[in-house]
Amino acid sequence: MRKVTVVGAGNVGATVANVLAHKDLVKEVVLLDIKGDMAKGKALDSWQQAPIDYYSTTLTGTDDYKKTKNSDIVVITAGIPRKPGMSRDDLISTNAKIVATVTKSILKYSKDPIIIVVSNPLDVMTYAAYKVSGLKPNRVFGMAGILDTARYRAFLATALNVSPKDIQAVLMGGHGDTMVPLPRYTTVAGIPVTEMIERDALKAIVERTKKGGGELVGLMGTSAWYAPGAAAAQMVEAIVRDENRIFPCCARLSGEYGLKNMFLGVPVKLGKDGIQEVLELKLNKSETRLLHKSADHVKDVMKTFDKMKVV
Ligand code: NAI
Ligand code: 2OP
Repeated sequence: MRKVTVVGAGNVGATVANVLAHKDLVKEVVLLDIKGDMAKGKALDSWQQAPIDYYSTTLTGTDDYKKTKNSDIVVITAGIPRKPGMSRDDLISTNAKIVATVTKSILKYSKDPIIIVVSNPLDVMTYAAYKVSGLKPNRVFGMAGILDTARYRAFLATALNVSPKDIQAVLMGGHGDTMVPLPRYTTVAGIPVTEMIERDALKAIVERTKKGGGELVGLMGTSAWYAPGAAAAQMVEAIVRDENRIFPCCARLSGEYGLKNMFLGVPVKLGKDGIQEVLELKLNKSETRLLHKSADHVKDVMKTFDKMKVV
């Protein structure tokens, strides 16, 4: 794979492009935004970092979709972020139209790209890109689970005073306050987390994780970008290197977990074709109940999207 396009050169998109360049995975990263000069400026700034940080991936900033021709992977970050007091779902009326327009424009110049959606409300914007694109479901999916799991892992690392490298975890469900961190699938260097931390402290971390995005909006007045950008770049890396890495991603379900025709965060295997496989864990009753509650919430937002008749 040679070319990745990142649409939206704001906080998250510019970070994705910059992290990707540092990984030196592909020949070219194109950064596209309707505010064209800003994309040009950020791409140029990132390219001027190459001699310092030693990478060869070139960066091009543009507002012209022609420059995205023959992209192998497209990361969509275009859209508005939330402000304090807003939920991710409040963004739908603006972002649905943006994601639909971006998806159509991309497909004019790239026949069969892999699309990774980042724009919020994530699960429904991924559904939107899938519907508009007509691509196969393994080629359209969303970034949220890696970020939400990273927040959970970071909180645990701080509480336990251990390296975040040693915390492994699974988190499922929608990218919102109904997300489902799974302590039963959380380990610290192979040790079940429940052997390392008191029940109440773990419960508090699970609750803080669910509201992790909102905590940052409260602190910064807009949503986060470093961890989200790195998370999307990690997905691109798994695809370009055909690593078959297992990550929680927002994927189309067709019967897994008793859910179908919707997009939701589940563990998947990511490789050269995008989603190589959706993994089905043996959830217990209470985990299944929480996952279905989260799915119900996403379905409500999907209904709002369908009523908008964007597709
Ligand atoms: P931002 O405001 O910094 O950047 C958004 C960029 O999109 C702007 O530069 C804007 O000009 C551009 N844009 C708007 N309409 C466009 C169009 N039609 N074509 C091309 N570009 C267009 O916002 P930020 O912080 O980068 O967030 C972007 C999106 O990502 C938001 O919807 C945010 O909620 C979401 N997000 C999702 C996360 C996730 O875990 N899935 C994590 C963090 C943010
Ligand atoms: C986040 O979780 C807002 O979805 C964005 O930071």
